[in-house]
Amino acid sequence: MKCHKVLLAWASSLLSALPAGAVTAVLLPNPQVPGFRFPESEATIVNWVYEMGNGPPADAATAFENMNLHGWGLWTALTMETAQVDNGQKLRVFETWFTPQELSDVTNTRLSPALPSLPRPRSALRHFNQFQHGSDVQEESGSAATEGSETVFGYVKFDPTATDHIVREQLLSIAALNQLGQSGAQQIPPFPSTALTLKSAFQVITVQTLVNGRYYRLNAWSGPPSTPQAWGPAMWPGVAWIDVKGGGSGSGQIDTQAAADGSSRTDETTYPVSSMINHRLSALEAAQFNAEQPGASASAGDYAVLVAMHVAGREIARWTWQTFWWTPTPNSPQVPSSEAIAGLRPAQLAGAPRNYAMALGYDMLTPGQPSVGGQNSGSAIYTYNPYLEARFSPANLPDSLPGSGPDGRPASNNVGVNCNCMSCHIRANYNPAGLASAPRYSGARYTGMDDPQFAGTLQVDLLWSLPEIAR
Ligand code: HEC
Repeated sequence: MKCHKVLLAWASSLLSALPAGAVTAVLLPNPQVPGFRFPESEATIVNWVYEMGNGPPADAATAFENMNLHGWGLWTALTMETAQVDNGQKLRVFETWFTPQELSDVTNTRLSPALPSLPRPRSALRHFNQFQHGSDVQEESGSAATEGSETVFGYVKFDPTATDHIVREQLLSIAALNQLGQSGAQQIPPFPSTALTLKSAFQVITVQTLVNGRYYRLNAWSGPPSTPQAWGPAMWPGVAWIDVKGGGSGSGQIDTQAAADGSSRTDETTYPVSSMINHRLSALEAAQFNAEQPGASASAGDYAVLVAMHVAGREIARWTWQTFWWTPTPNSPQVPSSEAIAGLRPAQLAGAPRNYAMALGYDMLTPGQPSVGGQNSGSAIYTYNPYLEARFSPANLPDSLPGSGPDGRPASNNVGVNCNCMSCHIRANYNPAGLASAPRYSGARYTGMDDPQFAGTLQVDLLWSLPEIAR
């Protein structure tokens, strides 16, 4: 009874806040990419990982192709446009999914079948917890200077099947997590194989950040530094100018002498806003953004452009990890992507989503180690997103372990450009007792699912946002 009331109150508060359009979550569609299956079987995916690390060259090459095609298939599917229109623009599949903040309000209601079809406004863009650590570093190095435009906003999202699992198992409820822990569970009930989650980063192009009323200065990734170190966007040598009026003939060039007044800009270093996944803010979103970012003055109609997106799928026990970022050179993107990866983009991937680079992390090390009882040996696999993790310093990654780089040479593996998604996420845990021994963030390294550091904590199926957002 009580639950019902909470849900109704929640739903009506959302509905009353709704402008004309309303968002309804949709399942991952079939993108019709030949060879792509979802969910792919766990045996098939872990065999690709095995073949890449242990197989003869021809088999390793085939495994590389299959794995990257899989990543591109996911990207193609989740960036497809739906028939839903919000604020005059078609919504892409991922835009219809739920954020943990939207879900935490109803996580106790157990009314999961109704939830995914509840209409609601477009999700608000927010700061990430992960960034609160990252931003200290920026301030120290004085590199937060880019008019606040480098502050990245976005959201975490869950597809409808992950949403259903979270609501049914009350995974955003502290009380439920505590009950699991007290009953002796070591981990939360695992997500179904169809579960997908993402973390995105947008930049909001406000009028104040424009040069000549139309050009936005976007720091463009040009690869990792020669000496591994914290390498946030403000330190990158190049800029791409994004024209909100749609001009620019850019096809790979970046402005390496970018002047604040835009005098260095050329047509070749300018890219139309349509080359990025974007949407225009509604009045509600602009107000939400201004509330999150004191001093910002976004207004309805301003563009939000997608610079980065992480995607993880529960097709395998330790999840598949893929990351995407906008690049001026989609055919020959920089490390940690590559020309070979870009060459595997399927024909079905068209329009703005084709201008993103991809990197995969389907394991922590190569050759791979077993999920329990393995060792931190072999070469690290570096997978990170320039716009999200590259800024991390050793202080952000306290549980890093020295090991080897991808080339097999000794490496400290304790900065953002030496990160691996699975290495940090496998350490995710709910730690209500505040144990100092509990696993924390790390760079690329091995951690077993049975690591003794998990003692006294609840493992959260690799998803850090659950314990961070549960209340
Ligand atoms: C150093 C730790 C760290 C690394 C490395 C890392 N993440 Fe995360 N990730 C987090 C944290 C913490 C969150 C929770 C949201 C937040 O606070 O930013 C998160 C959130 C996510 C989410 C949303 C679901 C969840 O876990 O809650 C996805 C998906 C994700 N990351 C994917 C990736 C991918 C893909 C990579 C590699 C390219 C990656 N992450 C690298 C720490 C990390």
